[in-house]
Amino acid sequence: MKGTLAFCCGLLAICHLNGVVAVDYFTEKPSFLPSCRIYEPGFTNCSTHSVQKLLDQLTIGIPEIVASIGTYDPMHVRDIHFKQDNNEVATIKANLTEVIVKGFGSAKIKESRISKKDFSWKTKIFLPKMRLDAKYQMAGRILLIPLSGTGNMFLEMENLDILLRTKTVLYEKGGFTFDNVTSVRVELNMTRVRSHFDNLFNGRSKEVERSTNQFFNDNWRESYEALKPLILETVENIFFDVMSKVFHLIPANFFIEDIPTPQQLYGKVGDKS
Ligand SMILES: *[C@@H]1O[C@H](CO)[C@@H](O)[C@H](O)[C@H]1NC(C)=O
Ligand SMILES: *[C@@H]1O[C@H](CO)[C@@H](O)[C@H](O)[C@H]1NC(C)=O
Ligand SMILES: *[C@@H]1O[C@H](CO)[C@@H](O)[C@H](O)[C@H]1NC(C)=O
Ligand SMILES: *[C@@H]1O[C@H](CO)[C@@H](O)[C@H](O)[C@H]1NC(C)=O
Repeated sequence: MKGTLAFCCGLLAICHLNGVVAVDYFTEKPSFLPSCRIYEPGFTNCSTHSVQKLLDQLTIGIPEIVASIGTYDPMHVRDIHFKQDNNEVATIKANLTEVIVKGFGSAKIKESRISKKDFSWKTKIFLPKMRLDAKYQMAGRILLIPLSGTGNMFLEMENLDILLRTKTVLYEKGGFTFDNVTSVRVELNMTRVRSHFDNLFNGRSKEVERSTNQFFNDNWRESYEALKPLILETVENIFFDVMSKVFHLIPANFFIEDIPTPQQLYGKVGDKS
């Protein structure tokens, strides 16, 4: 315990509150991160490697981050309450709880671009496979099929290409520049979606349950389109939760050594000239 603390003190700002030790943020660049400078050539390549290294390290487990969000793969995701009205292909209300997502540990970063204008990010990611397991409660209709049920479900996507657009606001903490992740939008392409909902129609007809699940799998492109808002929101929540926590812990300076300060980027508060 003492050893761990001594090790942490070198790397992290720690505050002692009533004897409880709370980790605030990293004050030294973690050794796994390369040094990248946005105003020098080759930045996008450097940034791409840097984000890959971060993901690899998240998969191994960065203790301070595990303490904050739990393991990265499998990942426990917050509950999803979803409502989609007046859509031609689906009208559904769904709650997903005990959501576990697997596969982010195998993510490959294809490209990480950062805007010099507003420091927003555009990240291209490839996942060979992503699987989501959850308990679901659902009511509504998808592709004209009336659906209601409560039980276990899973959703699997293969060869998933993700385009992630992240907006951030820079802020200052302890002389470092940090990213406050304010919005995450994703676009997805995949080669296959598999899904299964147990206990559809609350178990009233096992035969209809079986044929409905079969229908969704045989017509996965249409089913995906119908469920797309729910799936996008889920994936966006995952990225938002992970990234906002990670970037409150690790200063942006450790990813972009020559990142401007918030004052340099936005001007002084109240200075509108
Ligand atoms: C990209 O970055 C990697 C790791 O830093 C380096 O090995 C590689 O040579 C770079 N490629 C180019 C085209 O600069
Ligand atoms: C989802 O949860 C909310 C709040 O717990 C509940 O009011 C709603 O009925 C649930 N939706 C479904 C489809 O079960
Ligand atoms: C998905 O595929 C479309 C059509 O080929 C393409 O325009 C888009 O850039 C792709 N998006 C991603 C995230 O791969
Ligand atoms: C980050 O942004 C959110 C939403 O805009 C805001 O409520 C929060 O105070 C910001 N946090 C910091 C540290 O700037």
